[in-house]
Amino acid sequence: MSIKINAVKGMNDVLPGAVGRWQELEAVAREVFALYGYREVRTPVVEPHALYARGVGEQTDIVGKEMYVFEDKGEDRLALRPEGTAGTIRAFIEHGAYVDGPQKWFYMGPMFRRERPQKGRYRQFHQIGVEAFGIAEPAIDAEQIAMVQDWLSRLGVSAALQLNSVGDPACRPAYLADLRGYLEGHAGTLCGDCRERTQKNPLRVLDCKVPGCQPVLQGAPRLLERLCQPCREHFAAVRAGLDALGVAYRVEPRLVRGLDYYVRTAYEFTSDALGAQSAVAGGGRYDGLVETLGGPPTPGVGFALGVERLALILEALGRPIPARRAAVFLISADAEGAAAVLRLSSELRKAGVACDLDARGGKLARQFKQAERVGARFALVLGGQELAAGEGKLKDMVTRTETPVRLSGLAARLREVAP
Ligand code: HAM
Repeated sequence: MSIKINAVKGMNDVLPGAVGRWQELEAVAREVFALYGYREVRTPVVEPHALYARGVGEQTDIVGKEMYVFEDKGEDRLALRPEGTAGTIRAFIEHGAYVDGPQKWFYMGPMFRRERPQKGRYRQFHQIGVEAFGIAEPAIDAEQIAMVQDWLSRLGVSAALQLNSVGDPACRPAYLADLRGYLEGHAGTLCGDCRERTQKNPLRVLDCKVPGCQPVLQGAPRLLERLCQPCREHFAAVRAGLDALGVAYRVEPRLVRGLDYYVRTAYEFTSDALGAQSAVAGGGRYDGLVETLGGPPTPGVGFALGVERLALILEALGRPIPARRAAVFLISADAEGAAAVLRLSSELRKAGVACDLDARGGKLARQFKQAERVGARFALVLGGQELAAGEGKLKDMVTRTETPVRLSGLAARLREVAP
């Protein structure tokens, strides 16, 4: 008996008909990141659990509730990576990359969070992210944010930028104590999640979307008004940098992000096209994290973008899916033609011309149908007659017109008409 097995809930296939969109946004990312001096790093999908417990924070939902954790044959406690920053820092430290001064790295790949799946929220999803190590100055924050916008606008996407400062270890503790006191005073009107977070992670309470909590949260003390002098100066300089680069933003005092490692700059790009899961990219500064994970004191700032979410935006915009299709589909009319199309296809491919054929052979009509299915630009029928004449008819699959073509000059001709 056969059993049909489906993909794991919240984990998606990207089929050939849709993958062109992913390839396009990845290609534009590579191009833009190179323009800004970011180089690619590839790290494992599995890391020691402790990396995330220490790096991202045990109190976060991501680590505390959503991570896929397993024992490797009863020996090591491992986790599927829920995000890319911790693993990238682990690699940065492990390979002593810090000896070479500031580094700008980027990565692309799957991440895993056991969230409740819905539109734009999956259990396996993909991020494209960057980390800039070794630069404490606010110019890099501004440059990086401008780079995200540059990337998005090359894809025709305009996303709103929200910016905040979440302070640093000098100014945040006193603020958190005040915030906790305020929230405790209003516990009666807060939701269960907020009450729990008031103790564990009070900053995250500000992120609550439950309507009943909003009046209390609107009246909560604001960290932006309590920043220490260095954090205030940093924030002002990031804003000035964005202004100078022509990047529009909105200061959002309640933007706190879902990871514990941020200090000072925090930002998110959002799009209305996404519905409830409106954040397409998010990031910020994490000075101190490299040290926490065993490296030398090294400031850092980075972001990650959700590929599925960007693909949804592009789809909503009606942007066509780019596809590389065969320039020509070779059709065999008889046994002689069947041998010829095999030979000719090999020559064409060697010459860099994309071509395809129906390896099943058979009736002309079926082969033409297949040519249409794969979206070939031209079709060329080959049989004993064409081979003897050294000439065939190149059929334009769009206009349905036919023009004679010399078989010997086919590659050059196709490069002209279907580059
Ligand atoms: P994050 O905000 O948790 O940040 O994730 C970044 C982006 O990943 C989100 O804006 C969203 O587009 C996408 N994303 C997150 N969770 C899901 C999900 N379940 N399904 C689909 N897409 C999702 C980080 O991960 C940080 N590591 C970013 C960073 C890099 N900060 C500094 N450097």
